[in-house]
Amino acid sequence: MPRSLKLFITGLVALSALALVATSFVFATRTDWTLGLRPEIGVPLSQSPEVNVLAGVAFWTVLTLFTSALPVQMPRGTFVSTSIAPIVASMVLGGPVAAGWVAAIGTSELRELRGRVPWYGTLFNHAGLAFPAIVGGLAMDLTRGNSPGLVGEFAATMLGAGTFFALNTYVTSTAVALRSGQSFRVVLVSDFRGFSINFSALTPLAWLMAQIYRLPDGAGAWATLLFGLPLYTTRLAHHRFVEMREMFTQTIGALAEAVDKRDPFTSKHSHRVKEIAIDIGREMRVNEAELEALEWGGLLHDVGKIGVPDSVLLKQERLTREERILMNAHPVKGAEIIAPVTKLAPELPIIRHHHEWYNGSGYPDRLMGEEIPKLARILHVADAFEAMTAARPYRMKPLSQEQALAELRKFAGIQFDPVVVDAFVRTKWAEGVSDPGRPIETRPVPLLSQAAGRMAQAAALSDAPPQSDPR
Ligand SMILES: [Fe+2]
Ligand SMILES: [Fe+2]
Repeated sequence: MPRSLKLFITGLVALSALALVATSFVFATRTDWTLGLRPEIGVPLSQSPEVNVLAGVAFWTVLTLFTSALPVQMPRGTFVSTSIAPIVASMVLGGPVAAGWVAAIGTSELRELRGRVPWYGTLFNHAGLAFPAIVGGLAMDLTRGNSPGLVGEFAATMLGAGTFFALNTYVTSTAVALRSGQSFRVVLVSDFRGFSINFSALTPLAWLMAQIYRLPDGAGAWATLLFGLPLYTTRLAHHRFVEMREMFTQTIGALAEAVDKRDPFTSKHSHRVKEIAIDIGREMRVNEAELEALEWGGLLHDVGKIGVPDSVLLKQERLTREERILMNAHPVKGAEIIAPVTKLAPELPIIRHHHEWYNGSGYPDRLMGEEIPKLARILHVADAFEAMTAARPYRMKPLSQEQALAELRKFAGIQFDPVVVDAFVRTKWAEGVSDPGRPIETRPVPLLSQAAGRMAQAAALSDAPPQSDPR
């Protein structure tokens, strides 16, 4: 575990404990409350108000336990669960101390008891919800006043829950970013959708649960249990979303694999290109939608090779000019194949332009420099590195990683965007590989104005392209 994460979790746990103790003391001085808890949370079990409020806290804790037993992992690694609803309801009914305890104890999971979660994960799961719950409870308490009425209480609930969600999202994203090395912004933006669906669906539900719970004579507690069903369906909706995305990625992966398998040398090419492209994208701090486009675009970039005859695709000798024209049609063919899939619209420019050269001598549209879509420039570097370091029918002996990196550096500003090459050097794919460094001239070399540009232009359609230019 990184030291920064250890420090972060320790700080968060200390802060949660401190907040729980401090609020317990402060709220215990309220004469109309019991043990620092609003009496509304109590279940009318006995004459003792203390027993009743403790039973109420236990009720909400158990409900939270059940709902947190079904967390769903979001694409970038954070978990969402519907346990937020009973925590917010306990916040409405019992105040910040109740919410703190319900969040701290109720978020225990079976995975933790079975020892499948490391100790710091366990501590984090509890403190990461308890601290935001206490702060959210305080925000709610400050805004609702003594007799807020339905609208006032609803508004205070939204504010308290909003504070709770925002703080929870913040600490969770920080922890995931520290653990995985992804940027905080990427994690936050990527899983924000899940969090916002959670917030807008669960907060009104939590408020409603609190209203039902107040039904007289203990009937409320029973009626509240009926909410298990909508909570379960909400959880199912999250699960479906994650499952659908996974299924889509697998289908695309299978299609890419089918294309790669036509040539025994390129099996897994698209998968590896995807991995490299995503890592470069992360280094360049692209947003979540762009990372997804790199993932799917990486898998599909050579799908147009479906239309290239075997005699050309598998040819070991140099391609003739005519064969090269056939081969070079694959980006356009690929974009045409994918065009009807509306969900893949962001991937089209990647597929079409992944063989454009930075100096304008690539294909199919001879775009130059920044005219080439950024994600296509990223994919071009990933594609070239993967192709150079793997055996190909036309080059049986792969280049070493050093040689491949030297080629990327040599053709930076000619074939590749130098900024992308710089980012590639910072990824794990170039770790421990000696780097010749950035050449002095890295602006796009205008076509025909310099020897390198002329050479590159000729190379694009010649029968002897440079090593760095994958077929
Ligand atoms: Fe290609
Ligand atoms: Fe490729």
